[in-house]
Amino acid sequence: MNSEHSNNSAKNESVVTLNKLGRTTTVLNEINQRFVEEARHANRPVLDLGCAMGVATLAALEVGATVYANDVDENHLKAIQESVSLSAKKRLHTISGWFPEDLDFEANSFDVIHASNLLNFLSGPEIDRGLQRIYEWLSPNGIFLSISGSPYAANIKGFIPEYEKAVALGETWPGECDNLKQYSSDPTISELPDRLHLLDPYVLSRSAKLAGMHVEESYLFNRRDTPKYIALDGRENVVLIARKIGE
Ligand SMILES: C[S@@+](CC[C@H](N)C(=O)[O-])C[C@H]1O[C@@H](n2cnc3c(N)ncnc32)[C@H](O)[C@@H]1O
Repeated sequence: MNSEHSNNSAKNESVVTLNKLGRTTTVLNEINQRFVEEARHANRPVLDLGCAMGVATLAALEVGATVYANDVDENHLKAIQESVSLSAKKRLHTISGWFPEDLDFEANSFDVIHASNLLNFLSGPEIDRGLQRIYEWLSPNGIFLSISGSPYAANIKGFIPEYEKAVALGETWPGECDNLKQYSSDPTISELPDRLHLLDPYVLSRSAKLAGMHVEESYLFNRRDTPKYIALDGRENVVLIARKIGE
């Protein structure tokens, strides 16, 4: 899975999350960067789901946004509170809990919602419910930006035939993997749960449309600084960008 596993270059230093739900980096990928740019111009607060230690949250705070930072691990949120600058502290709101079940915001609260390497931890029905909540929470014309891991990653390539077979059979969620360790002995697999959901543009677009969103972009993607042990053939990540059309 493309959740920012280790890379030895100082440029793309990454750390294992405290709860072993993948890795996070200290550098912004293209979608994180887009989140920061959208956040810079936002009139309402922005929401960073599965923020880990705040790589994108802290950058959005730096450009003046009010940021609601969510993670299931409270220690990640504590780490953000400890590293935020004094001037940005009053614009940071940390929310612990499992997305989507534990979270509740008023409708139309956010101009931008961001999920970077988060959706892979959700089941198919959770993704459907999650995108419905995101639609509700976004303001009219608000945007959802996401990047996730696809099945086309070197460290999990043993799962590709299973995934492609499930696609051919027309399964609703062909990338749901319940026993990751069966498909890979790569050392990075120990940094991930055994249940992982490898995603593709088709399932994500379907779910976003079902939630009422307009899909602006949905494609397989090779993000900059893809770590070597993930790099396969340029399809390692999947991007979904969707908008709540104004009312
Ligand atoms: C692979 S890390 C990615 C972190 C960061 N967004 C990034 O792109 O570097 C996944 C993060 O999402 C959190 N997470 C996983 N599932 C979650 C869920 N359902 N609700 C909230 N946080 C979740 C994990 O605790 C972890 O910090």
